Amino acid sequence: MPANQSLPNIVILTGAGISAESGLKTFRDNDGLWENHRVEEVATPEAFEQNPGLVYRFYNARRAQLQQADIKPNAAHLALARLEKALGNNVMLVTQNVDDLHERGGSETVYHMHGQLLSARCAITQETFEWRDSFDHTTKCPCCNRVTLRPDIVWFGEMPMFMEEIYNRLAQADIFIAIGTSGNVYPAAGFVQIAKESGAHTIEANLEPGATNALFDESLTGPASSVVPQWVDNLISMYAL
Ligand code: OAD
Repeated sequence: MPANQSLPNIVILTGAGISAESGLKTFRDNDGLWENHRVEEVATPEAFEQNPGLVYRFYNARRAQLQQADIKPNAAHLALARLEKALGNNVMLVTQNVDDLHERGGSETVYHMHGQLLSARCAITQETFEWRDSFDHTTKCPCCNRVTLRPDIVWFGEMPMFMEEIYNRLAQADIFIAIGTSGNVYPAAGFVQIAKESGAHTIEANLEPGATNALFDESLTGPASSVVPQWVDNLISMYAL
């Protein structure tokens, strides 16, 4: 379905902060460690080559944690799903998060630029498979029947996914909002600049100013579970959706 010209085109970028109130830890808040690990130990192709056992165990633990009964989408995830229902294809939801809380909150189309925890990827064919259990260097790949499965995560030094689609939509954006992301990891941290150059109104929703705060036209300061539903409700009433 093409976008509706009378409604705004919105690109939404979410980061770990939107899932913090659902019980998932962010990356850079306290000690600089992600669940007790330095990022180079678990989130680089070199780490996977040198210590695959640790990397498999790490993502197996994250996948299991994500499926615990107490990990649920919060009001911010639900509000973004409401916005998608109201605006349809005029909204593009891009997330750096590898959790599935947007989908569980009701969002139908989510661009996971850093991959997904509940998915495994064949390192040879790049085919991906929905995967809820643990897997490791002994697990046979469904497509080639060899032991080629890796976490479906974009590691540092690898190219994020959907970049062409995202840049196309940023070039047409009327509104760009970055929610719960520290603005430290590129290319996502550069989206605000591109949106601004395309004439979009740029908004940062965060507990505190992120690294690229100066590039935003507006700041919504506070927990995502309160500022995001407010922003969505305002938009819905402004456009009588
Ligand atoms: P970070 O951990 O760098 O930043 C989380 C941001 O969320 C911070 O700016 C916090 O202030 C904010 N925050 C925390 N709680 C919040 C709340 N309740 N409401 C609103 N904001 C809140 O996470 P990302 O920016 O997502 O990449 O990190 C980007 C990438 O770096 C990740 O996708 C991951 C990581 O290394 C890969 O794994 C490839």
